[in-house]
Amino acid sequence: MKPISTSIWRKKPVEELLKDKQTSRLTRTLGPVDLVALGIGAIIGTGIFVLTGVAASQYAGPALILSFAFSGFAAGLAALTYAELASMIPVSGSAYTYTYASLGEFAAWIVGWNIVLEYLVAAAAVSIGWSAYFSEIFHSLGVLLPTALTSSPAAGGVMNVPAVLVALTIATLVTVGTRESVNFNKVIVAVKLLVVLFFIVLGARYVNPANWHPFFPFGHIGITHGAAIIFFAYIGFDAVATAAEETRRPQRDLPIGIMGSLAISTVLYVLVTAVLTGLVPYTQLNTASPVATALLGAGVTWAGGVVAVGALAGITSVLLVVIYAQSRVFFAMSRDGLLPGIFKRVHPKFKTPYLNTILIGMGVALMAAFVPIEIIAQLANIGTLTAFVVVAVAVLVLRKTNPDARRPFKVPFSPFLPLLSLVLSLYLIINLPPLTWVRFIVWMIIGIAVYFFYGYRRSELAPEGQRLRWMFRRLPAVRFRPRRPRRD
Ligand code: ALA
Repeated sequence: MKPISTSIWRKKPVEELLKDKQTSRLTRTLGPVDLVALGIGAIIGTGIFVLTGVAASQYAGPALILSFAFSGFAAGLAALTYAELASMIPVSGSAYTYTYASLGEFAAWIVGWNIVLEYLVAAAAVSIGWSAYFSEIFHSLGVLLPTALTSSPAAGGVMNVPAVLVALTIATLVTVGTRESVNFNKVIVAVKLLVVLFFIVLGARYVNPANWHPFFPFGHIGITHGAAIIFFAYIGFDAVATAAEETRRPQRDLPIGIMGSLAISTVLYVLVTAVLTGLVPYTQLNTASPVATALLGAGVTWAGGVVAVGALAGITSVLLVVIYAQSRVFFAMSRDGLLPGIFKRVHPKFKTPYLNTILIGMGVALMAAFVPIEIIAQLANIGTLTAFVVVAVAVLVLRKTNPDARRPFKVPFSPFLPLLSLVLSLYLIINLPPLTWVRFIVWMIIGIAVYFFYGYRRSELAPEGQRLRWMFRRLPAVRFRPRRPRRD
């Protein structure tokens, strides 16, 4: 039985969520290797290949190595909380769904609205990063693509055409099928890992330890400032949890996918950053392609092109996974009535929420075409960290409200680790620029308005009358005007 209520705090019980899973029309094709690949596919991309340059040269210097370890630790704690909830409630929707069960509908909506920042908005930033590497490769072949067609108006162009094309192409791929996208993802993940390992092994031979001095050119605070910026590099591990309904053995495999992909990425990030800052002085890393720049600076010119192609592959897989994840969260929100039905329509042949994915592709393309990358990336960070905070609270609340529910994976040392996860996420939010806060608040105000005008009334948990009233209100008002008694 659904707990019908007029309260904005109405909760969807865990049993009800699991029932959704049983009636799901998505097909179960994914195993643990697929999920680790999905995670790495979402994690390693623009953050390591692009943002390390800015973060090392302007915020942290060689201490960026510690920033990566710090951010990785914060993300790791969040991963533990996600893993507990993903194994307990293995349904589409990830953090949004967990919040629905623990903190109620309004909080769930807020999380879902933030996930749009995390995935859809991040996808736009990633498309722009892709376009930059794409142009870079052409440049190295001697072909200069016109700025007007490769940059947003804020960056001196008219429209970022490669970013638009890649967003639409990947959205189409996700629409065509999960199995196909996952296989495609595995191939690019393999290429990406090989290139990262290639960089570490080759680069290590050219490291000059003198470049690590001074280690803290921006002081110790540089570690946390750097960590807040490069946190973007960790966004995506939670995308694994959105694949819950397409996973063969979700209770066992989701924690493996989440923790495994994050652990591998963290180790690689720390090694890449150590090599990167050891190859050249950190001041030389302020470019759009710092990994290639460092190799060039150290005199290994032939390897620059290899790394650029790997970066392009890496960024492509990030785009694939975040678009996929966004479509599954929209799917779950629509199934709960908080978004229009079009978002949950499953294609009869492809078995994917196709209209939803097409709309996402168009949204990502539109943003990537005209909005600058910095604004988008910072918004993605704040949206993700807010979702992490809520998930940590959700773990604690569910332990109290559903102590006996089956939890194949449990966060160790609860409540300390979930609380530490919450504090570290808040700390990283505080370290983001204040302007990001303002944009975030505007976004939240819009989200709250959408909830009260749409979701609150159309929710599956709203009383029938409330839903009907909403529908009738859309009909011409004259139908409802009571007839006046005649006074003869
Ligand atoms: N973590 C992803 C990246 O760095 C979003 O591109």
